[in-house]
Amino acid sequence: SEFETILVDRKGRVGIITLNRPKALNALNSQLMHEVVAAVEELDTDAEIGAILLTGSEKAFAAGADIKEMAPKTFSEVYGEDFFSEWDRLSAARTPIVAAVSGYALGGGCELAMLCDFIIASDTAKFGQPEIKLGVIPGIGGSQRLTRAVGKAKAMEMVLTGRNMDAEEAERAGLVSRIVPVAELFDAALETATTIASMSLPVAIMAKEAVNRAFETTLAEGVKFERRVFHSTFATADQKEGMAAFIEKRAPEFKNA
Ligand code: HXC
Repeated sequence: SEFETILVDRKGRVGIITLNRPKALNALNSQLMHEVVAAVEELDTDAEIGAILLTGSEKAFAAGADIKEMAPKTFSEVYGEDFFSEWDRLSAARTPIVAAVSGYALGGGCELAMLCDFIIASDTAKFGQPEIKLGVIPGIGGSQRLTRAVGKAKAMEMVLTGRNMDAEEAERAGLVSRIVPVAELFDAALETATTIASMSLPVAIMAKEAVNRAFETTLAEGVKFERRVFHSTFATADQKEGMAAFIEKRAPEFKNA
C-alpha cells in the first residue's frame, strides 16, 4: 500500500481506515495526518464508497498528537505552517464518517474522533483533552467540538484539569452515540457503516449536511436550509424508488442518483 501509518481496506461500499502506529499508541504524527487526510479524500471521491469507518487498535484509538515530534517546535514554525490545519480537510468530506473508538482517545485522538460524524465507543474507551498537562491547549478543535458535544461544564472541567471520561460518562454526556462490548466494536461499527452505505449516497450527503448546519447557524435558518434540502431530495430517482419500494412492500434499490 502507499501508506505506512494506516491500513486502508474496503468491505462492500465501506472504506475502512485503521490507524496503525501500535508502538506509539497511534500518536498522530505529520505522516499519519497526511495519510489519513489523503485516504479520506480518496474514499470520499470514490463513487463506490458510501461510508467511511475510522478506527484504531483495542488499546488506543489514538493517544494524541505525537508529543515527541511536537516538543521541539517553535512558535514561528507552528504558526508559519499553520500546524494541524490540515486536519480541517476531514470536515470537508461529504461521505459519512463513523469513528469506532476503543481504549485511549486523548488530545488529538479525541479531536480526531470528534471530527468524524459520530462515535461508537467500546466499553473500554477513554476520552480526554489532557493538553493542559503538557503546557498547551487543544489544537484540532477540541475546545469547540467537545463543548458543543457535552456542554460547557464538562468540557471546561476536562480541558482545565485534563481528566478523562470513561465510555459510560461519554455516552451520558452525548459524546458517543452508543457503547458496545469491546470484542464487538469493529463488527458493530462496520454494520452501522454498511447500513449508511446502503442508503442513497446523495441523500445521505444531504442528511449529513443538514445535521451539520445545526452547528453553524440559527434555528430558523437551519430549519429553512433543511426544508430546501428536503425539497431537493425530490429531484432524485432514489426518492421515487424509496417511496415506491415502501408502497410495494419490498426493499429499495437505490441507484445513488
Ligand atoms: C508520542 C506517545 C504518545 C503521544 C503514547 N506514546 N502517547 N508518543 N505522542 N501522544 C508512546 C509512549 O511514549 C511510549 O513509547 C508508547 O507510546 C506507549 O505508551 P506508554 O505511555 O508506555 O503506555 P501506557 O503506560 O499504557 O500509557 C498510555 C497513556 C500514555 C496513558 C495513553 O501513553 C499517555 O499519557 N500518553 C500521552 C497522552 C496525551 O497527553 N495526549 C495528548 C497529546 S497533546 P516508548 O517509546 O516509551 O515505548 C495533543 C495536542 C493536540 O494531542 C493539539 C494541541 C497542540
